[in-house]
Amino acid sequence: MPAILALETSCDETAVAITRGGAVLASEISSQIALHQPFGGVVPELASRSHLPQIRPLITAALDHAGLRLADIDAFAATAGPGLASSLLIGNTVAKGLALACHKPFLAINHLEGHLLSPFIGHPAGVVPCVALIVSGGHTLLLHCRGAGQYTLLGRTKDDAAGEAFDKTAKMLGLPYPGGPAIDRLARTGNPRAFDLPRGMLHSGDLAFSFSGLKTAVLYTLEKQAAPPTGQTLADMCASIQAAIIDVLVAKTLAAARLTAASVVAVSGGVSMNSGLRARLTTAASEAGLDLRLAAPALTTDNAAMIGFVAGLRLAAGLSSALTEDVDPNLPLGGASEG
Ligand code: KG4
Ligand code: ZN
Repeated sequence: MPAILALETSCDETAVAITRGGAVLASEISSQIALHQPFGGVVPELASRSHLPQIRPLITAALDHAGLRLADIDAFAATAGPGLASSLLIGNTVAKGLALACHKPFLAINHLEGHLLSPFIGHPAGVVPCVALIVSGGHTLLLHCRGAGQYTLLGRTKDDAAGEAFDKTAKMLGLPYPGGPAIDRLARTGNPRAFDLPRGMLHSGDLAFSFSGLKTAVLYTLEKQAAPPTGQTLADMCASIQAAIIDVLVAKTLAAARLTAASVVAVSGGVSMNSGLRARLTTAASEAGLDLRLAAPALTTDNAAMIGFVAGLRLAAGLSSALTEDVDPNLPLGGASEG
């Protein structure tokens, strides 16, 4: 099976991986979290500038870990979108340059398809039909996947993504960026029923999401407090926020599985790292008789292994991309018809 060197630079992680079929031979990630932390969010100009010095050492490290030389690589892949244009260009240009120099194919991969299929990496049966929940800092989507490359969009957020809901409410609580991991940690000792927060669109009857009302409700709740929450109150607030987000994600995912009669549910993206969400999904799936595939923890947040995995499927189907293909900050998911 061909060895693929994949690059992921769509946002604030510089990532390089080498994959062969479902096997990840190396996966290197250099996080820029510390760089963006003082600004409370990702600064696009800083992100693209810092991808550049990181990418060459990461390629060398990935080749070393995989025990391969550049000449052993059969194809080069990079995320083409969605993401920050100036960041996407770095990985894309490097992958195209390597493909050109090594006379090997180049593959432009959709970041969302990488997340979507990440729960199947290393699974002996490969990609199987499923309902897919993608929950990240930029996206909250429910899709019906009939196989690799065949997707129907079932629902998406109308405003903030689930990760944004974590990050923005965490910021209001004075917690560091990114807020998801901080809320997850504090929620473990908090009471999820301590604060009554809205479950946006829980009973809307469709598979759309909305998290902006939660943000406003947290703001009003904080304004009513005599002082910024600390100790147990802070933990209770984190547990209540997390429960409000999880309740909707779990209910809509189960509804999507019922609607499509899917027996497999695949969950991916940075928010799928959340320990409360993983636990609730595990219980709910077992009660509903669903086969739950959670992305492996190391593959939940942005990584290049998921890009290499999708590229391997494309290559096996005889597909590759033109070197003239541009990046697209709003790249739609190929094969995703609105459902
Ligand atoms: O998939 P990802 O790395 O980037 C995007 O493509 O957006 O996701 C990053 C998001 C951030 O919003 C971060 O707060 C969230 O994933 N996240 C978490 C956890 N770990 C990361 N959210 C909740 N609980 C976590 N443990
Ligand atoms: Zn992502």
